[in-house]
Amino acid sequence: MFITFEGGEGTGKTTLIENIYNHLSKTHEVIRTREPGGSMIAEAIRDIILNPKYEGVTPYTEALLLAAARAQHLDEIIIPNLKKNKIVLCDRYIDSSLAYQGYARELGFDFVLSINKYATMHLPDLTFYIDLDPKIGMKRIEGREKYDRLDQESRAFHDKVRKGYLEITKEYSNRIVLIDGNKTIEEITQNILSKIRETI
Ligand code: TYD
Repeated sequence: MFITFEGGEGTGKTTLIENIYNHLSKTHEVIRTREPGGSMIAEAIRDIILNPKYEGVTPYTEALLLAAARAQHLDEIIIPNLKKNKIVLCDRYIDSSLAYQGYARELGFDFVLSINKYATMHLPDLTFYIDLDPKIGMKRIEGREKYDRLDQESRAFHDKVRKGYLEITKEYSNRIVLIDGNKTIEEITQNILSKIRETI
């Protein structure tokens, strides 16, 4: 089973995935991974995408690098673990590219889908989109030491990312579950766990 987690900055995704992992691994074989990255080569590409020193990366390059990192991650981590019947929990996947590059960077959903054809052949069974007003999310990450190239984008950009996610959630409502990010992490964890158990 392939499960992905999506959302803007500061939605508590990392803690959430850790909680879900801890619960599920009591009874199932589970692995946790993330995008962009998740394997050595994909992590190297991640650095080019996110390191503020590469401020000149253009939107098309960004989208293509993300798709390349994703292909590598699929081949090295996601597909082999799914074949071993493990539950794969992934922090971000193709819906991030749709929301950030397709919608917020205005490259369009069709373009993003076309360069991610390989990933569309391996869509998640279940995706949780944690919805939160960027005003709250960005406040939460304000104190963080690491501020990557995308965190540095404007509020308007992050508002657009959220709009993009809401559109995608509607479009793929059979796969994507909208979660209210204002609830407590414990409430959200329980909500997600029961949905996963239902699907298993
Ligand atoms: P990360 O530090 O993992 O952020 P977060 O903790 O918010 O998940 O950085 C990932 C950044 O990359 C995040 O700003 C979203 C962005 N991103 C895209 O723009 N497109 C993508 O396809 C992916 C996977 C991530």
